Amino acid sequence: MDESGHNPSANTVPDWWPAEARQICALADMPKNAARGFTLTGPTARDRLDIIIWANHEHENEHDNESAALKGFVNKCPHMGLPLETFPDRFLNAAGDRLICSAHGARFDAGGACVSGPCQGASLYRLDLRLEGGMIILPPQKPNPAAD
Ligand code: FES
Repeated sequence: MDESGHNPSANTVPDWWPAEARQICALADMPKNAARGFTLTGPTARDRLDIIIWANHEHENEHDNESAALKGFVNKCPHMGLPLETFPDRFLNAAGDRLICSAHGARFDAGGACVSGPCQGASLYRLDLRLEGGMIILPPQKPNPAAD
């Protein structure tokens, strides 16, 4: 568990990371409270990273900025390491306040913690994101303690 109480599971560790910062999409292409999936690739066929970006404005107030609302996760469920969605960009429950894994129904809050389902108490692998010039950027990520 890291200092923020995040408890990433080894199942969520990706097989590959891009070594350099990557542009994900324009902020303008992320509607408020939407979640979208993206795939990053590298020079070999095995270099693939699936991620989820969630523009979570659930607890927005006047002090929030766009950057604070953006949540990023590796798209691998802590339960069995499967991608969460069955259909493209279908990540959220009807209320729009939880990510749902379509395989066995695990639900995740905006911090990536599993709040119900078979991996309750574990977490998605959270990503550090940046906003630059209206673009959502995935910088090189720090190693995950769960990978040890
Ligand atoms: S793989 Fe996600 S709940 Fe089982």
